[in-house]
Amino acid sequence: GITRHYKFDIKLHNVTRLCHTKSIVSVNGQFPGPRIVAREGDQLLIKVVNHLSNNISIHWHGIRQLRSGWADGPAYVTQCPIQTGQSYVYNFTIVGQRGTLFWHAHISWLRATVYGPIVILPKRGVPYPFAKPYKEVPITFGEWFNADPEAVISQALRRGGGPNVSDAYTINGLPGPLYNCSAKDTFKLKVRPGKTYLLRLINAALNNELFFSVANHTLTVVDFDAIYVKPFETETLLITPGQTTNVLLKTKPSYPSATFFMTARPYVTGQGTFDNSTVAGILEYELPPDSFHSSIKMLPLFKPILPALNDTSFATNFANKLRSLASAQYPANVPQKVDKHFFFAVGLGTSPCQQNRTCQGPNGTKMAASVNNVSFAMPTTALLQAHFLGQSNGVYTPDFPSNPIIPFNYTGTTPNNTMVSNGTKVVVLPFNTSVELVMQDTSILGAESHPLHLHGFNFFVVGQGFGNFDPKKDLANFNLVDPIERNTVGVPSGGWVAIRFLADNPGVWLMHCHLEVHTSWGLKMAWIVLDGKLPNQKLLPPPADLPKC
Ligand code: C2O
Repeated sequence: GITRHYKFDIKLHNVTRLCHTKSIVSVNGQFPGPRIVAREGDQLLIKVVNHLSNNISIHWHGIRQLRSGWADGPAYVTQCPIQTGQSYVYNFTIVGQRGTLFWHAHISWLRATVYGPIVILPKRGVPYPFAKPYKEVPITFGEWFNADPEAVISQALRRGGGPNVSDAYTINGLPGPLYNCSAKDTFKLKVRPGKTYLLRLINAALNNELFFSVANHTLTVVDFDAIYVKPFETETLLITPGQTTNVLLKTKPSYPSATFFMTARPYVTGQGTFDNSTVAGILEYELPPDSFHSSIKMLPLFKPILPALNDTSFATNFANKLRSLASAQYPANVPQKVDKHFFFAVGLGTSPCQQNRTCQGPNGTKMAASVNNVSFAMPTTALLQAHFLGQSNGVYTPDFPSNPIIPFNYTGTTPNNTMVSNGTKVVVLPFNTSVELVMQDTSILGAESHPLHLHGFNFFVVGQGFGNFDPKKDLANFNLVDPIERNTVGVPSGGWVAIRFLADNPGVWLMHCHLEVHTSWGLKMAWIVLDGKLPNQKLLPPPADLPKC
């Protein structure tokens, strides 16, 4: 591989959407931010310079960061944030990954506007396991707030209720013609007939899982989270925040007398308020410049039909179609034996309001979220430094519960006590521990699907189901042959998902719900993986310019 240099200047930039102009946090004055393009095996040196008056930190979502945890980016986990006027060079190498990932701010809600694609091409001379596409097009979904997203979340945390919903969904930063005052801000994909396009889809939205479809065109899924999958055809995709997927779109063999909408709209399982609006982009067949047809005529417009907002059976069927390629060239290295079993109950809960006040959560409480009833309290210094220097005292405790302290009927009716506890608790794993983790949705404040994202690893999704996980009957059905390998998985609403991974990457790794509001409420925890014995099994030393708190 080669070394590629990028520079990210983080600064304010004026953007107008929905007839509303505001100053947003941007990278190099671009929205969405710049595209990073690299090949598998390349080293990236990305210098991030903070010109803001507040802190920033950038995460390279899905990049494995083998031994290079200092470059992972979540603020107060692997680094202190980059302060005003300071800079930090993220230094990492892409190992064993090709496909699409993305980068985003990883502090507070700044990722609302600070995000962009990471395109990872195969090594030079290595073909895709499918026919070479004519063109490749990143398509990034986001959420636009007319208000300042930082104000939206800080107000919600102060009041204890849910945050205001966004005003639009976007494709490559553009809400499209179904919103008021937005027709000129429409993503257009101009295509030729008889060609294959590779769409690199990214869900960078803050709080919504999305359905996506292109009218009258079938999509062939070839890759998820930068891992090849067994190709399958579908009219509609479900993509959660934190997930990325590559799909092939074959255009019609000849010029159709129509244009086609591509649309995305949320999949909703919880009780909270949400925006059920639709972002639309346009697939337009471009005529050659010398064409006879070039007289402008109005073509009929076809719109896709998306599943119902709460179509969980679509979500289940879609998840069941996902399989690793599991070929000789791209094997699925599923851990066959397990050293440590974990069972995490994930879901919403409440915490007490400040004295003499009433909050907007259930019964005057504050909304909260937890894993095994622990709502993660962010430290004020970075966990990775504390771990590396052996200074965990007062920063974190290694007693994160492997199982719920008091088991209950997770998918039953609401228990009397909805209160969570707070703590900065971690799980400590010896190097190369083979982990099996069952994540169970709880219905304490209503069942809801949670896209759980693990930093530093890919994992295999070996099982999923509805109701309470039952080891007696469910273990026997695990797929240990060709399960999908990924970094973000939806814990199904009212159900569970089981994953396996090998803890072969020393460092401190955050795991959290990629619905940003749930992360803000504490639905996160961290794994510490200890160094192995060999020199190439140890975390690299911290870079000299690592920010200080
Ligand atoms: Cu894309 Cu910790 O997140």
